[in-house]
Amino acid sequence: MQNTLKQHWNPTSWKDKPIKQLPEYPNQEHLTESYNKLTKLPPLVTSWEIEALKSKLAEVSMGKSFLLQGGDCAESFDATTSPKIVNMLKVMLQMSFILIHEMGVPVHRIGRIAGQYAKPRSSDFEQVGDKKIYSYRGDLINRYEATEEARIPDPERLIEGYHKAGLTINFLRALADEGFADLRHPEQWELDFMLNNKYYAEYEAMVESITKAVRFMESIAPTRVNSLQKADFYTSHEALNLYYDAAQTREVPRKTGFFNLSAHMVWVGNRTRELEGAHVEYLRGIQNPIGIKVGTPFEVDETIRLIETLNPTHESGKIVLITRFGKEEIENGLPPLIQAVRKEGLPVVWSSDPMHGNTFATDTSLKTRNFDHILEEIKSAFAIHRAEGSYLGGVHLEMTGDNVTECVGGAKGLNESGLSTNYETFCDPRLNYEQSLELAFLIAKEWKQSYF
Ligand code: PEP
Ligand code: CO
Repeated sequence: MQNTLKQHWNPTSWKDKPIKQLPEYPNQEHLTESYNKLTKLPPLVTSWEIEALKSKLAEVSMGKSFLLQGGDCAESFDATTSPKIVNMLKVMLQMSFILIHEMGVPVHRIGRIAGQYAKPRSSDFEQVGDKKIYSYRGDLINRYEATEEARIPDPERLIEGYHKAGLTINFLRALADEGFADLRHPEQWELDFMLNNKYYAEYEAMVESITKAVRFMESIAPTRVNSLQKADFYTSHEALNLYYDAAQTREVPRKTGFFNLSAHMVWVGNRTRELEGAHVEYLRGIQNPIGIKVGTPFEVDETIRLIETLNPTHESGKIVLITRFGKEEIENGLPPLIQAVRKEGLPVVWSSDPMHGNTFATDTSLKTRNFDHILEEIKSAFAIHRAEGSYLGGVHLEMTGDNVTECVGGAKGLNESGLSTNYETFCDPRLNYEQSLELAFLIAKEWKQSYF
């Protein structure tokens, strides 16, 4: 049955299926033109990088290493700037060093970066005065400005997204060469925010030890890292705007199958994972590792069928199951899912997204998340996996290297009234630089308690 289905797959076979979260482009001719243009542009990543990531994920699924996936909820085209990219790479590297130092296993890093431009929304429309306009769906689809005209899906944005992703990955590749060098210096770690924290001394000693280790490594092996793959940094986004992903899905010489060459990994969102829907149809045909977001509402049997559909050969490293239940629901949701996955013998990487189930709005209608709730979901995820004898191999975070004020809590004790100081996100609230480092430190503590 699977094989027969497979024969009918092609990068645009999803067009025959019902699609959610992607509005009709009013100008179909323009859409075809942009789509065709995109199919001819050079790939952003290579098939061998994708395969390398898959083997690394296979190791995670065996409990040998850990996955750190993180970045903006939504990247914006205007934020394709040097400081944003540098800060994001810096915070991801620093977090991973903390994890490696504390856990003693390799950490693979995947950014929500260089293509994370499309967003699912809870409502198709937004009321502005007496007008009902389309919701903003990310820069890949329309503009943020709250006017009727700005919200019309514009196919030109597929090309602009490709260019912005290309500029981002080009800079990341260059930074992978030099990026580690900066981290030799403890002052690059901006430790002061932890001063009042009970873990400060421990944290300071750890940073000292990491910077020494980096210096030592460089002195015995002064060779450059020179590639994203060697730096163990990969790109990912939600495969939501299927025109963007399909146009970059291609066969490559001497390999079987199709690769989405716009990112190393893509994921399917919690709102678009219906078995009979367009997104699953598209995803079942590509060779890339695939993330599956699972939160309420969900059904265990259907999730198992989804995993089987996306990975019928049970290839290891292919599926990252990213649970995002929220701190209340995780106790009910996660155990039966772990048991069913084990019963069916499905190889998956288990990852915890403690962000999307823990969002709330303040009295002034700012969307936020509480650091303590995020940590609570992570702690529960570790505890449940440990109790089930299963391995929690990764985390999936919305975070930034910048000093934004979008999530409350953390060592600095940001409260709701402080949120407006530097609230930048176009979509969901992100952990800032300090909150991200602190969380990495606390995740490592949890991991050690569970698996040491
Ligand atoms: C996201 O990762 O930004 C997202 C929308 O997640 P989910 O599909 O889990 O709600
Ligand atoms: Co989000």
